[in-house]
Amino acid sequence: MKIAIITDIHHGPQSHTKKDGWNGLGTVENFVQHAHAAGADLILDLGDHISDSNHETDVKAATEVATTLATFKGPRYHVLGNHDVNNLSIADNEAIFGQSMQSQVIDLGEIRLVVWQPGVKITAGVGFPRAADELDWLVAALNADDRPAIIATHVPLSGHSQIGNYYFQRNPQYSTYPDHDSVREAVEATGKAALWLSGHVHWNTLTNVGGVQHLTIQSASERFTTYPLAAEAFAMLTIEDGQFTIDVQGNDPFHARLPFRKSGERPWMSPLRPFNEIAERADVEHEGA
Ligand SMILES: [Fe+2]
Repeated sequence: MKIAIITDIHHGPQSHTKKDGWNGLGTVENFVQHAHAAGADLILDLGDHISDSNHETDVKAATEVATTLATFKGPRYHVLGNHDVNNLSIADNEAIFGQSMQSQVIDLGEIRLVVWQPGVKITAGVGFPRAADELDWLVAALNADDRPAIIATHVPLSGHSQIGNYYFQRNPQYSTYPDHDSVREAVEATGKAALWLSGHVHWNTLTNVGGVQHLTIQSASERFTTYPLAAEAFAMLTIEDGQFTIDVQGNDPFHARLPFRKSGERPWMSPLRPFNEIAERADVEHEGA
């Protein structure tokens, strides 16, 4: 199974974080060519198709991205990012990309892809809404089947450190959902998730939490890790023989190969209580003895 991944294309107006004259569509064309050449079974786009400015400009930019991705001769799945919904409605995006932007489960034979779309509209000064409103759907979807699942969201829920991140070191509340810890706990309790794919944070990371491998993929347009070049990133996820390989192409390369298994096959021990509580308990037992 080969899944070609692109995220955070941010096609549209120039900004200080982009290389002068950077053409998002060129990278998307390379991505589709690479996906065809490598025999990808499907493409997965993890959102933030555009850099938003106003409704009219955003419709044009999103349509150009959708039209270019549609040259892929196979199934496409699209996730909405926060920039996709600043001036466009979910219905606008559904019309442009020609698919539902509701959460859905895709049967890939021996595995399942769970595209989960909790709200991504940021409130200034606050951050993302709680993801828990959509959690019942996710837990039910995971529990409905015994095959290992890959979860795809725009926003990562690993809780990984943002130290060094250009955008989020000083703004961590905008990097994830406020209730990411309880969502992870509920997902880990199902034991069904193997991988969790996200974009949004514009860097490559791999974080294993409770046996679920959380991957974030570098943005196609970013350059804070590749200055003065644009990252021009896209990735191929290959799953075979009980392992997965992630291979990020472009100027911010990243490669990893690890076992592919649902977390319930090798559940982790629960983290210890705070050491001071354990020490207090030992003192009580000591005094009582
Ligand atoms: Fe983004």
